[in-house]
Amino acid sequence: MARTKSTLRDLAELILKNVEVVEADLAKRNASGPDINETFVPGADINFGNPEVSEAIYLTTCAAQQLLQTIRPPQACLIQEVSRHVVPPSLRCATELHVAEILSEAGPEGLHVKSIASKCGVDPLKLAPVLRCLTTRWIFKEVRPDVFANNRLSSVLHKGQTSEALQQNPEKKYDLPKAGICTTIGNVTDMGCKSSAYLYETLSDPDFAFSNEPNRASFNKGFNTNKTLWEFYEDPAQSARLHRFNTGMQALQRMQPVEQLRDSFDWVGLRDDALVVDVGGGIGSVPLALVKLIPKLKFVVQDMPLVVEDAQKRWKDEELVKTGRISFQAHDFFEAQPIQHPDVFFLQNILHDWSDKFCLQILSRLREAAGPETRLFVRDRVIPYTCLTSDEDNGEKIPGVLKPTLPKPLTAVGGGDPFAFTLGLGLMVLANGGERTLNHTIELYRDAGWKVETVHQFDALGRAISGITAVPI
Ligand SMILES: C[S@@+](CC[C@H](N)C(=O)[O-])C[C@H]1O[C@@H](n2cnc3c(N)ncnc32)[C@H](O)[C@@H]1O
Repeated sequence: MARTKSTLRDLAELILKNVEVVEADLAKRNASGPDINETFVPGADINFGNPEVSEAIYLTTCAAQQLLQTIRPPQACLIQEVSRHVVPPSLRCATELHVAEILSEAGPEGLHVKSIASKCGVDPLKLAPVLRCLTTRWIFKEVRPDVFANNRLSSVLHKGQTSEALQQNPEKKYDLPKAGICTTIGNVTDMGCKSSAYLYETLSDPDFAFSNEPNRASFNKGFNTNKTLWEFYEDPAQSARLHRFNTGMQALQRMQPVEQLRDSFDWVGLRDDALVVDVGGGIGSVPLALVKLIPKLKFVVQDMPLVVEDAQKRWKDEELVKTGRISFQAHDFFEAQPIQHPDVFFLQNILHDWSDKFCLQILSRLREAAGPETRLFVRDRVIPYTCLTSDEDNGEKIPGVLKPTLPKPLTAVGGGDPFAFTLGLGLMVLANGGERTLNHTIELYRDAGWKVETVHQFDALGRAISGITAVPI
């Protein structure tokens, strides 16, 4: 009897077709395939930087996820989704307790949970379920009963220091670049998870439900505070959290090729010593990377006083800071902008932290200080809709915007990598911010007196930050 070809098979074939692309590249480079049971060696297997491979990985993931959500009973899928609630806290425990470092020191044979727990100072009966929650997500592996070892995913949780050094100086745990992923895990599992647990309560509380205020978000319920996230970070009692956040932003910056930043704006076309004001620039990680590529730029990095203090301490020996090519200035971006008519106002990862009402204020302060030649360059994600769209849906045509496509039978744009969407929601949870679609972006900027001229995108899914260039109207 002829077999009916189902969507399941289409999905499986799509997976196979794309895995073949990844394998062909491995074969061309004489590289072995990735092994989930082995520790990760950067560059040794898949070439993640190859755009064709990266697209194949995305399609494989998208098809695999859709296959999983289709083949199981719907109730089982939903139970699986909600049961994930213990995964992020388990990851937090593993990173805070330095389990990856302890297991790396133990070697490939692994270590009994009693020994791991004794090194971490926790109850082995409580640590074992935490580790098994992770091993069932392929993070760590149980090599024999109660004996755990590192694998591909857990090996990248190593912060680059010995477990002893980390235990002796916990305040230095995020100091090395290798700890980048752990800072993000710390930020998300501490601030994000505790806040998002109150999402429904926020949507349904009349005092919060329709508020644009940054101190009326789920974060305020989760942390029982009336402060905005940023005011909260400025409290001296939260200095460890502020340090982790700033270090996390630096780590995220490192994960994005600086070439993307270089290529998404016409920096080269600017005059010598062109003045760029990095508004809400954090500790200045962006200019430090960019000015090394384009030395003629001059940056003033503006941020809150404590962040500026942190930046000045961190970079006191940095040549670009010592020579004044990059300088720091405490400035509240809701106040009148002290620098008039610069060449560029630059904002990265700022507007997505705020609701429209506050973005309008930030953009208006910059518009008031802009000269006729000043450019506004914003790096934020431009997110697509999760369905495919027509030209009509997309409104104004802006050069550089990419349109998502989905091979059949995939149905959800972003399904294989929903980072831009989860990040957007995460920002709403923390501060009533969020990522914006193109239509939303154009309208918001126009209301503040800026016309979006171009959008430079590296992928249509908003996974990479887009570069939005606008001019004064
Ligand atoms: C998400 S971080 C982005 C940092 C940097 N632009 C980057 O991409 O790495 C947001 C920054 O906005 C700063 N910020 C928040 N409120 C501010 C305000 N009212 N004035 C100036 N900076 C502010 C925070 O301190 C933080 O450094």
